Amino acid sequence: MRQIGGIGRDITDERATAKRMEVLVAELQHRTRNLIAVVRSMADKTLRSSGDLLEFRSSFRERLDALSRVQGLFSRLKDGDRVTFDELIHTELAAHGVTKGQSGSTIVEGPADVRLRSTTVQTLAMALHELATNAVKYGALGQSSGQLMITWSLEPSGPGNKPWLHIDWRETGIVMQPPGSAPRGSGQGRELIEQALPYQLDAKTSYELLPDGVHCTISVPVSATTLEGNEHESSDPA
Ligand SMILES: Nc1ncnc2c1ncn2[C@@H]1O[C@H](COP(=O)(O)OP(=O)(O)OP(=O)(O)O)[C@@H](O)[C@H]1O
Ligand SMILES: [Mg+2]
Repeated sequence: MRQIGGIGRDITDERATAKRMEVLVAELQHRTRNLIAVVRSMADKTLRSSGDLLEFRSSFRERLDALSRVQGLFSRLKDGDRVTFDELIHTELAAHGVTKGQSGSTIVEGPADVRLRSTTVQTLAMALHELATNAVKYGALGQSSGQLMITWSLEPSGPGNKPWLHIDWRETGIVMQPPGSAPRGSGQGRELIEQALPYQLDAKTSYELLPDGVHCTISVPVSATTLEGNEHESSDPA
């Protein structure tokens, strides 16, 4: 039963909640539109690079799945939280059958809790997806002699006085195509890393096909809150 009149209620909290909901809905609308644009561009690119519909179907599905994993990470965040790089890399590797803690031919090493900027997460996830897919198709996750080493480090004050994340993806023990051969597919993976990442994220990247495997480096500015989070975890005075 509702009681009307007589008792004054403090509605400050309710107002604040209503305002917050408004902000959240606006944010959600913005993200949804952004996501539709990303899916459209992904569809266009995959279509351009596919020989037939079957090829389109499998590449497009894989890319959509990668995008959906990122949304999953976002949806688990609590207020003020950020997706961290270790979450992102382990999620992507798990999707390709490499589980955390698994020893063997894959080494994954770097500081926990490098908090990514929300604008970085999606594109970086797609780049990791392209690297992992390539590793399955041509490299360390597909050849039994292959080794994959993914390491990363945090530079507290990099270019622009911002904290930067440096990622190093190195495959070894791979039987490569002869130097100078044309890409086996359309070359979208490499294009994303060499062109889209620097353009969209201010990233610095390198991508080399060495005689025994791929070597790719990606450096991106990360959330300034990363440093706050690391203060009590790191015993390294630097
Ligand atoms: N991990 C790897 N190991 C060995 N060779 C690789 C690896 N990654 C890429 N390559 C070589 O580099 C080429 C370019 O890779 P890229 O991802 O740009 O294109 P793709 O995989 O062939 O096509 P798409 O990514 O558009 O499906 C590949 O065709 C392959 O020959
Ligand atoms: Mg590829």
